[in-house]
Amino acid sequence: MLIFNRQEELKNHLKSVSGPNTTIGFVPTMGALHKGHLSLIKNSLTDNQITIVSIFVNPTQFNNAEDLEKYPRTIEIDTEKIEAVSKEVIIFAPSVEDIYQGNTVSASFNFDGLENQMEGAHRPGHFDGVGTIVKRLFEIANPTNAYFGEKDFQQLQIVKKMVKKHHLSVNVIGCPIFREENGLAMSSRNERLSLKAREDAALIYKTLKTAKEKFGTNSAKEVSEYVENVFKQNAEFKLEYFEIADEEELISSAENKKDKKYRAFIAVFINNIRLIDNIALN
Ligand code: PAJ
Repeated sequence: MLIFNRQEELKNHLKSVSGPNTTIGFVPTMGALHKGHLSLIKNSLTDNQITIVSIFVNPTQFNNAEDLEKYPRTIEIDTEKIEAVSKEVIIFAPSVEDIYQGNTVSASFNFDGLENQMEGAHRPGHFDGVGTIVKRLFEIANPTNAYFGEKDFQQLQIVKKMVKKHHLSVNVIGCPIFREENGLAMSSRNERLSLKAREDAALIYKTLKTAKEKFGTNSAKEVSEYVENVFKQNAEFKLEYFEIADEEELISSAENKKDKKYRAFIAVFINNIRLIDNIALN
């Protein structure tokens, strides 16, 4: 199992083992790995000759200092989980210093408005941080294919937009959301939920599924009102947003039109832990 902590080491290794036709798959993560992350890694292993997983808690994408501080750092356990999938995976776990060289400031990106919706609106600067780190990691790993989860659907679309606008030569591949048995989308943050909250949080996906059923016959406004009511009636939840938007531009839609693909997006607090999820509607 190869683990590199410095970008120069990874770059030198890749130079020595890859030729012009070698396919490199890349899975960027912030660690605290769960089965959702592992499903991305498995996809990469199937498609590519080399698979690199980065584990890096990126300070520039946190708009909340406490969230950054509390983010779980479990590199040994993560390494074991990856090893159980395949010993062939290369782990890249750099320090903040190695990546940012003392300058932890985000570049400023224009994602054609994608950054102003939902997560972007509620987490100022977040997507500039994501753009900064993903671009830097792409430059280091130089992947053929990069794997991102639909769990963070807005992030996936933003990375695709960045690749297009900056003419980067990487295929960005979206992978389905991996869920707990009760439907809760897997997330590193689920570890911070009490056992009860983890059970109660099944309501999020259950409500999204009902929203999907209703979307066929009700207006987007009616569906939104339904979801808002569900969370009003359950005091342990605080709904931050529920939006129905088209998949390409992520613009909130008042009407359900048949010519576009729509998704419902949700951010909700339970026990002060912020969870996000989404579902394809048509
Ligand atoms: P992180 O939250 O660790 O997620 C890493 C990747 O795993 C992302 O592409 C995310 O969408 C995917 N993922 C998380 N939960 C998933 C699930 N339940 N099912 C499927 N995929 C899931 O997203 C980040 O890190 C960071 O923003 C990063 C891209 C690494 C940049 O710092």
